[in-house]
Amino acid sequence: MDAAHVDDDLVNVLFTEKQILERLDGLAAQIERDYEGQELLIVGILRGAAMVMADMARAFTRHVEMDWMAVSSYGSGTKSSGVVRILKDLDTDIAGRQVLIVDEIIDTGLTLSWLTSNLKSRSPASVEICTLLRKPEALQMPVDVKYVGWDIPNEFVVGYGLDYRERYRNLRDIGTLAPHVYS
Ligand code: PRP
Repeated sequence: MDAAHVDDDLVNVLFTEKQILERLDGLAAQIERDYEGQELLIVGILRGAAMVMADMARAFTRHVEMDWMAVSSYGSGTKSSGVVRILKDLDTDIAGRQVLIVDEIIDTGLTLSWLTSNLKSRSPASVEICTLLRKPEALQMPVDVKYVGWDIPNEFVVGYGLDYRERYRNLRDIGTLAPHVYS
């Protein structure tokens, strides 16, 4: 689905599919340099990270192992509770491994802050984070992010994996959702 197909629902297009793929190429190249000569496991956080994982993994010019986790953020309460529950754990034993968490957005930082500590407790060689988007103004918990596609304003964005009530994930581009859709 292209932005033109949901034109009335968007205030603007923040990043086109072309821009996203170019940025992911750049990030993949940087990651390849940093992990040269080392095995790398990238861990996608379902469901939003599916697109970033698929496109970034294919941008690599080397082998990369892929695994997935699903977490329910704020399972028992409000968004600020920081409670995270694992719905699907890794299939991989990460002890001694170089691990790179891949997500599409860091909002409050609560999910990835919790997830990083959780993975670090499993004795990996390293745990780093790559996120396509980050909202610095929304951050409630400091998160050490090594690779960021773009910092964006604190607005409701959809597309390229990002949803509003499970819609817009399959939009090729990333856009700002118009308030009339969610108000
Ligand atoms: C998104 C995103 C992160 C989390 C970030 O997932 O993929 O995991 O929110 O938010 P935070 O920084 O405020 O913790 P979401 O819970 O929307 O699930 P989804 O990927 O299935 O859409």
